[in-house]
Amino acid sequence: MIQKQLRWGILGVGQISEILAPAIQSSRWAVPYAVSSRSQKKAKEFAERHGFFKAHGSYQKLLDDPKVDVVYNSLPNWLHCEWTIKALKLGKHVLCEKPLANSLSECKKMIKASKMEKRLLVEAFAYRFHPQTMRIKSIIDSGKIGKIRIIRAFLGFPLNLGTSNIRFKDQAGGGALMDIGCYAINVIRYIVGAEPLRVYGHELMGTKHPVDLTFGGILAFSKEILGVFSCTFLTVRDFQLEIIGSKGNIFVPSPWQPESTHPSFTLQLGTKKQVITSKRGGNVYCLQVDQFSRCIREKVEPNLSLQDSLANMAVIEALQHSSKTGREIKVIKS
Ligand SMILES: NC(=O)c1ccc[n+]([C@@H]2O[C@H](COP(=O)([O-])OP(=O)(O)OC[C@H]3O[C@@H](n4cnc5c(N)ncnc54)[C@H](OP(=O)(O)O)[C@@H]3O)[C@@H](O)[C@H]2O)c1
Repeated sequence: MIQKQLRWGILGVGQISEILAPAIQSSRWAVPYAVSSRSQKKAKEFAERHGFFKAHGSYQKLLDDPKVDVVYNSLPNWLHCEWTIKALKLGKHVLCEKPLANSLSECKKMIKASKMEKRLLVEAFAYRFHPQTMRIKSIIDSGKIGKIRIIRAFLGFPLNLGTSNIRFKDQAGGGALMDIGCYAINVIRYIVGAEPLRVYGHELMGTKHPVDLTFGGILAFSKEILGVFSCTFLTVRDFQLEIIGSKGNIFVPSPWQPESTHPSFTLQLGTKKQVITSKRGGNVYCLQVDQFSRCIREKVEPNLSLQDSLANMAVIEALQHSSKTGREIKVIKS
């Protein structure tokens, strides 16, 4: 019997957990129940800072806690598969950070476990839960900007190259494509509502880091639609999305972290520009926690399916293959 509020537990107390914890705290559907870290001290300090009841000195202890209903997996990419499957097998629902895993084969194992255990698993692309995203999609689907021709997505921010950030670890699903390029691919596929047929990718490797610090990609769809993206750890903060159609275009200044109070984007038809503000804004991470909890409680499908996550990873792998071989790659249906 599922209770009204679900008890959330967090695996790992890193950067993103610091952002998710207040979202769990403020959600009326969730209870900030337990946190876990490899360090008991870190877990205790985090729990005290964010009002969680329990602090565990290992991830396994949190999973063994029968009171935990939902696990938020905020571990580095190379630990997503292992700990998500462990959690699912112990009867927990899992919100797992993006990208869902390090590879397509890992994604498949996670999806299989979610189906077998009948537990919800969702990739934490928070922007997919925000009304701004849905508003943009509905304008496009209404045909207002005509036929979509080009989608451009840019993600960049300065990452300190002198640190030992998880994003610099090669075997660990590091690099710009995995870390932020996954958003660009996800939004382009979502807007088009189909899978690309072919992709071309180009990576710029670091000299001292064994990962792509910059990645550029092209996604070719049928019906004369092209998605173009770039992602990098080497520029000023720059996140943008533009959808260009045969009759108009949409420019989104904050596609992945829409503003809480007045999220807005620009719709241009001919010379006429209109700023559109989503009425029901809110913190994107709170919306994610609310909707994930509601999906469990009310047994409704989340806005982001596991098939969608799988297809996203198939495109990531095709782009990686392309950049290694210098060839255009056909995307295999997942
Ligand atoms: N959705 C978003 O907006 C968003 C934003 C940022 C990151 N992310 C995703 O969230 C995940 C974590 O990113 P982050 O920026 O929070 O990373 P982070 O600050 O490095 O935190 C990762 C945590 O994982 C744990 N960990 C376990 N084994 C580790 C190891 N060998 N090396 C380093 N850490 C290890 C650590 O927790 P303990 O020390 O407590 O055990 C660490 O604090 C990634 O999958 C990333 O893609 C999502």
